[in-house]
Amino acid sequence: MTLDSLRDFVRALEEAGELVRVSEPVSVDREITEVADRCMKSAGGGPALLFERPMLPSGAPSRYPVLINAFGSARRMALALGAPSLDEIASRVQSLVTMAVPDGMAGKLSMLPKLAELATYPPARATGSAPSQSVVLREQEIDVRLFPHLVCWPGDGGPYITMPMVITRDPVSGTRNVGLYRIQVQGARELAMHWQRHKVGAAHWREMAARGERMPVAIVLGADPASMYAASAPLPPSVDEFLFAGFLRRSPVRLVKCLTSDLEVPAEAEVVIEGYIDPAEDLVMEGPFGDHTGFYSLADRYPLVHVTAVTMRRDAIYPATIVGPPPMEDYYLGHATERIFLPLLRLTLPEIVDYHMPAYGVFHNLVFVAIRKQFPGHAWKVMNGLWGQGLMALAKVIVVLDDWVNVREPDEAWWVALNNIDPERDTRFTMGPVDVLDHASRGFTYGSKMGIDATRKWPEEGFTREWPELIRMDEGTKRKVDAKWAALGIRLP
Ligand SMILES: Cc1cc2nc3c(=O)[nH]c(=O)nc-3n(C[C@H](O)[C@H](O)[C@H](O)COP(=O)(O)O)c2cc1C
Repeated sequence: MTLDSLRDFVRALEEAGELVRVSEPVSVDREITEVADRCMKSAGGGPALLFERPMLPSGAPSRYPVLINAFGSARRMALALGAPSLDEIASRVQSLVTMAVPDGMAGKLSMLPKLAELATYPPARATGSAPSQSVVLREQEIDVRLFPHLVCWPGDGGPYITMPMVITRDPVSGTRNVGLYRIQVQGARELAMHWQRHKVGAAHWREMAARGERMPVAIVLGADPASMYAASAPLPPSVDEFLFAGFLRRSPVRLVKCLTSDLEVPAEAEVVIEGYIDPAEDLVMEGPFGDHTGFYSLADRYPLVHVTAVTMRRDAIYPATIVGPPPMEDYYLGHATERIFLPLLRLTLPEIVDYHMPAYGVFHNLVFVAIRKQFPGHAWKVMNGLWGQGLMALAKVIVVLDDWVNVREPDEAWWVALNNIDPERDTRFTMGPVDVLDHASRGFTYGSKMGIDATRKWPEEGFTREWPELIRMDEGTKRKVDAKWAALGIRLP
């Protein structure tokens, strides 16, 4: 079944036994964080939660239930994307990007369904009325503080929208972008937009500022889960997230035009906040915010969004997440990207067998890569290639290992890496752009990176000693022990 809206996703989660409804009143001021954090830290990511009676900071109940941790497990992430597993999606991406010339007529015909599938992806304009525009608030009628925005952590600068899809358009190419950037609620119709300088929304804003033009922005709260995930994916600026979401869900996303700008938003959205940024205006202080590094990100200056309209469903569901010390829900969103983007990374770096960003590395701090090493210096080539690709450019430490190492098991990766390195010989430092959230770099968004070549060293790389074999039991002994295992009376967990 295609999930067309957030409420479809809630229904699917409930049917799969993945959702807990919380009818007890719970405050949006830190209490929801504490409850959700305990769940997210439990085995497998805990359940998705629907807080049916979130209490506003004023003490009044909110009319809108809060959905949190909806993407926070491997199973729910696959459910969100309508696939049995993330690897299955990766293999669909792989077959799309495999441009091999098919053999014979049968091979050619077998490619046709793939191409036909592509043609069904582009987002479509909705006909008739859109559920996301059932209720319309304009100008003085608007007070965005009516929604149950979370105050996540004690040191946060205020209430935040934590799970939005932020829609902007490149004024030059006309390409749309959808990004997941947190937004601080600063007043009834004022929001601070935390798009970091390396992100596409920020690039659109710089272009608008250079032209001196007002920038329309649409903020969508809750839509089909594939589109919500797509907002978090590091797609190249030329790729429309709704096209990607259409590919993932095998069905186009239906869009409707905003009421106060030409931007388009999902017709099935729960809430849409329309507004604009005036580049002539001063930036405003945003933050601090308890961030996904596990530390507070410091307050800094970001653009102010003026709200011009709010449109929504009558019984809107409010989506939220929290970030903080890992693991959190965002690990599963990032992990989906890790799996789905592997075939795309391999387009330019085909020697990559697998890669993994463990939860405690908070994405940009640590990347393990397994490669099929074919020539001296190969590990350095791969690191340099990764530091040249999209948001991989922000990776702080990259560890390259041989193909047989299961890099999805960080303990195994570290075990082999630490054995294989001569620290002085096998580590190198370079400079580059650094994640906005990195609090240790020498400059803001500028600093060093470390590469570790943990592959087996070759004579051409100056290693002339004998390299030992890995210990593995022989198959004959394993079979003998298998045959007598039951009789041994040993029970292993
Ligand atoms: C829960 C969550 C919160 C995020 N918050 C922000 C944020 O506040 N600012 C930001 O620039 N990126 C944030 N990101 C990362 C972006 O969503 C991600 O880099 C995405 O690729 C950006 O889209 P873009 O490439 O179209 O700019 C967040 C990601 C997640 C999963």
